[in-house]
Amino acid sequence: MSRFVIRGGRALRGRLEVPGDKSIGHRALLFAALARGDSLIRGLSAGLDNRATADVLRALGVSLEETGEGVRVSGVGLHGLRMAKGALDCGNSGTSMRLLSGLLAGQRFGSRLVGDPSLSSRPMMRVVGPLRARGALIAGASGAKLDEVYAPISIAPLVEGESLLGLEYDMPVASAQVKSALLLSGLYAAGPTSLSEPVVSRDHTERMLAYLGAPIRVAGPMVQLDPAGPGDDGAAWSGGWDGFDWEVPGDLSSAAFSLAAALTVPGSRVEIDRVGTNPTRTGLLDALRDMGARMTTRSLGAAAGGEPFACLDAEYGALRAGRVGGELLVRMIDEVPVLAALAARAGGSTDIRDASELRVKESDRLRAMAETLGAFGVPVEELPDGLRIEGGSALHPARVDSRGDHRVAMSAAVLALGIEGESVIEDVDCVRTSYPSFAETLRALGADLSEVEA
Ligand code: S3P
Repeated sequence: MSRFVIRGGRALRGRLEVPGDKSIGHRALLFAALARGDSLIRGLSAGLDNRATADVLRALGVSLEETGEGVRVSGVGLHGLRMAKGALDCGNSGTSMRLLSGLLAGQRFGSRLVGDPSLSSRPMMRVVGPLRARGALIAGASGAKLDEVYAPISIAPLVEGESLLGLEYDMPVASAQVKSALLLSGLYAAGPTSLSEPVVSRDHTERMLAYLGAPIRVAGPMVQLDPAGPGDDGAAWSGGWDGFDWEVPGDLSSAAFSLAAALTVPGSRVEIDRVGTNPTRTGLLDALRDMGARMTTRSLGAAAGGEPFACLDAEYGALRAGRVGGELLVRMIDEVPVLAALAARAGGSTDIRDASELRVKESDRLRAMAETLGAFGVPVEELPDGLRIEGGSALHPARVDSRGDHRVAMSAAVLALGIEGESVIEDVDCVRTSYPSFAETLRALGADLSEVEA
């Protein structure tokens, strides 16, 4: 188990790129596996989460090969996956487990999805319930909460003559993982899948399906996929798509850490190239603009899969407190921990609300960030659905624990980078799930950060 040792107060300067977007990476792998023929995915993250999806696909009979250019995937078509020999290990990756639950619910073979202890304590009824409602034979394990289910997830095969049903479903909580699981299962259904969300969550799946010519229609928070409907050219859908060549834009959720460090460590200025700026993901940028951040975004157009990307430039300067909730919160669901670190540096009281989903991420991120901020001397109140953070106090170095959560580890590191003296972040192996080059990248920008084997 390793730890970060950080001596804060050194300005960060320079240009960087971040690993490929994790959410887009999972989907690119899945859609390439289901394509007719070969695909090339460039810029895929080397993080363990994307690797978990790739390894599961291998176990399902898809051949994936790392080449100098990217990952080459030999697609097997929508109906070409084969039964795996053993359990499918999703590691720490909730996106892998939930998206694959949807995909595998439509197959004529059985599957069993397992995960690490953190993933095995996350709620799965949100996918199991609606998949059952469309005829899937899927079950989870019982656990801490009554009426909830957890990994391992077992899926029985659909026998000859049986198929999934159409589904009309109003999702109680905005969730791209649930939405995507239901759309993937919808590719195998006898009727349309019609979903609505309280607020639009990240829409990578919808963009990619549309790009690949699948019969999907999106209207605000509603999305419909009808395999019997026409494709994008108006003709009957051919029932699949051909291989493709895609570049995954950089992950804004990873860029957020260098961005936050640049905004809060005196004398810093960084430029982050080729970052994905899909508007369903840019809530943090909007929140930071409201907080007076010195930051510019230069559009670079759209990558394949219909994903916009840009170059971000951020410079140290005073920040004022912000308010985050509602739709904005959904568009920055993974950036709440780093926003909490930023709020500690802003003048005044920042309120983060409508964030109770954060309690069921890789850790209870509201509790984790309240305790982490508190350890550095930040006055913070934990609310049932958020945090109230009093910014601008004098802070001191601290020794904190990541709780095995990559975003908590990196957010704590950002806070420590702005504090004179030595801080220690324990249990940082988890950073490899999304951003293996995090420490190296910050060092290249001038940070005094070392990763030490505990
Ligand atoms: C993701 C969706 C979000 C997000 C997660 C990635 C995705 O989860 O927090 O990191 O790729 O679909 P929810 O769907 O649970 O909100």
